[in-house]
Amino acid sequence: MRSHSDTDFGTPARAGAPAVTITIDGIMLAVPGGTSVMRAAATAGHKIPKLCATDSLEPFGSCRLCLVEIDGARGFPASCTTPVRDGMIVRTESEALAKLRRGVMELYISDHPLDCLTCPANGNCELQEMAGAVGLREVRYGYLGDNHLDSPKDESSPFFTFDPARCIVCSRCVRACEEVQGTFALTIDGRGFASKVAASQHEPFAASECVACGACVQSCPTAALTENTVVASGQPERSVVTTCGYCGVGCSFKAELKGESVVRMVPNQDGASNHGHACVKGRFAWGYATHPDRVRSPMIRARIDDPWREVSWDEAIGYAAGELRRIQTRYGRGAVGGITSSRCTNEETYLVQKLVRAALGNNNVDTCARVCHSPTGYGLKLAFGTSATTQDFDSVRYADVIMIIGANPTEGHPVFGSALKRRIREGARLIVIDPRQIEIVRLPHVAATHHLKLRPGTNVAMIDALAHVVLTEGLADFDFVRERCDPREFDIWRRFIAEPRNSPEAVEPMTGVPASELRAAARLYASVPNAAIYYGLGVTEHSQGSTMVLGMANLAMLTGNIGRPGVGVNPLRGQNNVQGSCDMGSFPHELPGYRHISDAQVRSAFERDWRVALDPEPGLRIPNMMDAALDGSFKGLYIQGEDPVQSEPDSHHVIAALRAMECVVLQDIFLNETAKFAHVMLPGSSFLEKNGTFTNSERRISRVRKVMEPLAGFQDWQITCLLSAALGYPMDYAHPAEIMDEIARLTPTFAGVSYAKLEALGSVQWPCNDAAPAGTPTMHVDRFVRGLGKFTITEYIPTEERTTARFPLILTTGRILTQYNVGSQTRRTANASLHAEDLLEIHPHDAEQRGIRDGAWLDVRSRKGVTRLRARISPRMQPGVVYTTFHHPESQTNLLTTEFSDWATNCPEYKVTAVEVVPIAKLEDYERAEHP
Ligand code: SF4
Ligand code: SF4
Ligand code: SF4
Ligand code: FES
Repeated sequence: MRSHSDTDFGTPARAGAPAVTITIDGIMLAVPGGTSVMRAAATAGHKIPKLCATDSLEPFGSCRLCLVEIDGARGFPASCTTPVRDGMIVRTESEALAKLRRGVMELYISDHPLDCLTCPANGNCELQEMAGAVGLREVRYGYLGDNHLDSPKDESSPFFTFDPARCIVCSRCVRACEEVQGTFALTIDGRGFASKVAASQHEPFAASECVACGACVQSCPTAALTENTVVASGQPERSVVTTCGYCGVGCSFKAELKGESVVRMVPNQDGASNHGHACVKGRFAWGYATHPDRVRSPMIRARIDDPWREVSWDEAIGYAAGELRRIQTRYGRGAVGGITSSRCTNEETYLVQKLVRAALGNNNVDTCARVCHSPTGYGLKLAFGTSATTQDFDSVRYADVIMIIGANPTEGHPVFGSALKRRIREGARLIVIDPRQIEIVRLPHVAATHHLKLRPGTNVAMIDALAHVVLTEGLADFDFVRERCDPREFDIWRRFIAEPRNSPEAVEPMTGVPASELRAAARLYASVPNAAIYYGLGVTEHSQGSTMVLGMANLAMLTGNIGRPGVGVNPLRGQNNVQGSCDMGSFPHELPGYRHISDAQVRSAFERDWRVALDPEPGLRIPNMMDAALDGSFKGLYIQGEDPVQSEPDSHHVIAALRAMECVVLQDIFLNETAKFAHVMLPGSSFLEKNGTFTNSERRISRVRKVMEPLAGFQDWQITCLLSAALGYPMDYAHPAEIMDEIARLTPTFAGVSYAKLEALGSVQWPCNDAAPAGTPTMHVDRFVRGLGKFTITEYIPTEERTTARFPLILTTGRILTQYNVGSQTRRTANASLHAEDLLEIHPHDAEQRGIRDGAWLDVRSRKGVTRLRARISPRMQPGVVYTTFHHPESQTNLLTTEFSDWATNCPEYKVTAVEVVPIAKLEDYERAEHP
C-alpha cells in the first residue's frame, strides 16, 4: 500500500501530445492528449472509484469499478483505459453507474474477510475506501459458497506477508513487478474463480525470483501484500520525507512513523531520482538504526589494549582535543589529520574538512572516495571541466544505446537498474563491458546485444580499440569535434588512436575479446542518435582508472554523445554521498567546489569567512597518512563515519599504521573494525537521526530530515562542532541550513542552493546559481565547462600486478543486491539472512583443475596475504578470473589486495589481484609443493 499522503491519479501522466478539451460533470478542462478519462477527472478533483488502476502502472481495465458515461459512446466505458478525445462529455455519477459499481463491489466483498477492524490495512485500504465510496450497504450473495477465505498465508519473506484471502486479483502486483521493477517474478495463475497470484512456479516468495524491492506491496490496494512491520505495529500515523542512506541513487522516501517509531519506509512518488521505486535495502533494511550494537555513549582509553571506558561527552571531546593538540605540540602541526565520510551529509563533511584546515591548521584531510571514484573526479574535470556526471538519471529514457562498463546496476544501483531495464524493454540496445556475466546481460525481456567479456585490467586497451574503430571506419561526429573540442589536442590524439596497435585485432590477445565482437560494439555505439555510457568501480579501481575515465570521455566526444538527454559519461557512485563528500572539499589539495588550495584568491575568500590563515600546501592523502604514521611523523587521526581497516587496501599495512598512532578518534554508529585501533569513540547518528543533505550520482542535492532523536544525543555535525570548539576554534551553527548557506556563499557551483529552495523544488542538481537557478540536469549543453573539450592520449599500460605460475588467477570484487559495502548496516537487518557469507565465484574449468567442489572451503592467497572463503562454481565467470563480494568482515578481502593504485589519484587497484585458490583439504599438498 502506498503512503497515505500520496495523491493517486489512477493512470500515468502523458506528456508531449497537444492538449484536448473535455467536459467532466459539467466542468470543462484541457489535458494532454492520451490522458485517460480517469486521470483527467482526478485532475479536475473528481475521484472516480477504482481498484485495478494506480498511477504508477499502465491501465489494465479488469475491475470494472471505474465505469463512466460518455456522450455518444455505447455502454459504460472504463475510465482508466479510455483516453480523452477533444470535445468529449463525461459523466462520472449517475443512478445507473452507482448501481453497477455497487454490484461490482458486492462481488469483491463476498469473497473477502470481514475483519476490517483487526486487518493490518485498516484505515489505509482501497477496498474498504471503495466500499464506502460506492455506498455498499449489504452483500446479497452470502459467504457460504466457494471462496478463498481459508487460503494459507505466505510468510516466507522476511519483509512482507502475502495473504491470498485478502487478494482481489487486481493484478497490480504483477504489473508492478513487470513495469516498475522489471523482475517478472509474479503471474496471475488460473482463470476465473481459480485465478490467483503466483510467485515464479508457485514457489514461496522467498524461494522465487523475487528480489524484495517492495513494488508489489506498495501497489497492492488491500492487505493481501503487507509489510511485516505494519502487520506487527499497525498503520503509521505521520511521515517525514527524507533520502535513503545507502547507495548513490539517492532515493527519496517517506519515513512513516507511529508515535516516535519508524513503521516503514515508503518510496516517495515525487522523488526525482526514484519516482516512487526502491530496492530491498532502502525499503526494508533500516532496522540497524536501532540495533542493540549501536554505540550509545562516548568512550575513551589511553592504549588500544585497554578496555573502553564510558565517559561523558565533555570528557571524551576534551580528551580527543587535548590529545590532538598534544601531538601537534610534540610532533608538529602536520602530525594529525582527518577522514571525512561519504555516508554523512554534505554539511557534516564540510565541517570535518573545515575543522582540519581551520582548527588543526593543515590540509591533511581525505575521504573514502579516494578508494572508489577519485579517478572520475580527475578524468571528467580534465576532459570536460567538471568532476561529476554529465546527466540526470531520467536521461536514460532517451538513450538508444546503453553501454555499461565495470558496473552492475541491477545489484549495486537497483532503482536505476530498473530504469535501465525499462528502457531496454522499450527498445534501446545494450552493450556490457565486464569480465563477468553480470545479471543485466541476460534477464527476462532484457539481453545485451554485445557482452565484451574482457580480462580484468585491460579496460584502457578496450576503450582505445573502440575509439580506433569509430575513427578509422569514419563513424566519428566530426562536426561536434570541430565545434566543441580543442583542435590541437584532437589532432595529437587522432594520430595516436589510429595507430594499428590500438586496433581490435592488436588488443585481442590482451583483452581476450574477439576483434569482430569489439568492432560490432563500436559500430553500434557510434551509429545511433543517442548513446550513453554508465560506469562504476570496475573502471576506477585500477592502476589506470583515471586513464580509462579519460578514454570514455574521448569516445563520447568523438561520437558527439555529450550535452543533451540520452547521452553522456555517467559514473554510478557507490555510497549515498560520495559525490557530496568530494564536492565539499574532502581532498587534501582542494577546497569545496574543487578549487585548488594553492589558489590565493580562492583561499583568501575562505580565510576571510573562516577568520583564519590557511596552509597553501596540499596535505596528505589517506595512503600518505598511513605511510607517515609508519615513519613516525603522523600520530593523530579524526575519522568520521569510516572504516579504513576494512575499506582501504592492504589491511596489514593500515593496521600497522593505526597501531603506530597515538590518538585515533573514531566517530561512528557501531564499533567497526577500525574501532579496535581507536582511543576515542564518539557515537555518531544514523541518517534517520539528522538534518542535512546528500548529493547523489546525478549531482542531485536532496534533503535528509531528522525522523528520530539521535540515540547518543548529537547529530554528527554537532559532534564536529563540539570537537572544534574544544580545539579552540568554535563553529556556531543553529541548524545545518546555516552550514549550507556558508557553503553556498563560498562555492560558486552551490551559490543558489538553500534549504528554502530544496523545500520548494524537492531537490536540485548542481551547478545551481544565478546562471541556473533551478539547477542543471544536463551539463556541457552548448559548451564544455572548461571551454573546449579536451582529448587526452590514453596509452594502455598493463598493471604491475601480474599473474604467475604461483598466482595464476585474477581476483576481482563486486557487490550483491541485498548487502551494502562492508555490511555494517545491512548485516544488522533481516537482509543478513539473504547473504550469510561472501563466496568465491570460480569458473567450472578452474574449479575442476584444482579439485574444487561447489561449497568447498578454500584458501585464497595473494602476494599480500591469505583469506578463507567458500567456493561457488559459476559459468558467469571466465576461466582465469575469480570473484567475490566483500560484505562480511570475516572475508577480509583487503588482506589480499595490493599496494598498486591509480597513477593520478592513488585510488587502489581493488579489481586486479593475482591469487591462487586451494581447497583446504589439499592445503598440505600445496604447501609442500610451494615450500619444499
Ligand atoms: S496481491 Fe494485491 S495487488 Fe496483487 S492481485 Fe492481489 S490484491 Fe491485487
Ligand atoms: S517484491 Fe519486487 S521483485 Fe518481489 S514480487 Fe514484489 S515487485 Fe516483484
Ligand atoms: S537504490 Fe540505492 S538509494 Fe534507492 S533504495 Fe536502494 S539503496 Fe537506497
Ligand atoms: S480501475 Fe478501471 S477497470 Fe479497474
